[in-house]
Amino acid sequence: MRVSWAELYEQIGSCQKCRLCETRHRVVPGEGNPHAKLMFIGEGPGQEEDRQGRPFVGRSGELLTRMIHAIGIERSETYICNVVKCRPPGNRNPEPDEAQACLGYLRGQVALVRPKVIVLLGKIACRYTLNEEIYITRDHGRWFERKGTWFIPTFHPSALLRDPAKKRDAWDDFQKIREKLSQIESDGG
Ligand code: URA
Repeated sequence: MRVSWAELYEQIGSCQKCRLCETRHRVVPGEGNPHAKLMFIGEGPGQEEDRQGRPFVGRSGELLTRMIHAIGIERSETYICNVVKCRPPGNRNPEPDEAQACLGYLRGQVALVRPKVIVLLGKIACRYTLNEEIYITRDHGRWFERKGTWFIPTFHPSALLRDPAKKRDAWDDFQKIREKLSQIESDGG
């Protein structure tokens, strides 16, 4: 049985399934249009997200928001969330057991939003959604179809902040996203 948004957010908000609940300040469930055509999945909340309880509001969030605008879309039209909903201390990668504990929530979000296109921001987002070994430098910008939904890996915005030379490739990926959404729209989707 599919849960409602209210039930899902309630479950996420009181979650104690893994150790990340012990160090979090705020849970960061995700936000945006509950019927978005375009969804973004990141890795896990950073310090600012943990403080505000919102995804992608720090420096990498500012960059992500600018990139979304650059393809003519408002951030509020999209749905944005992460693999894990609580901050891993020191911004380390989530451990496999932490990600596994949280995956049901992500599946619930995807089932409720039913986006046409899902953008996977970085390797961790790819690892827990596509059952394939993904190398972002090799596989960014490739389309993967799963049950009628299109997935595209691209660089995590924090990787772009660390290495601005990657922005060119990320920009090309975002153009592909824009084209895919136009194509879906013209096909009546
Ligand atoms: N990095 C992520 O992966 N997610 C956020 O919400 C913020 C930074």
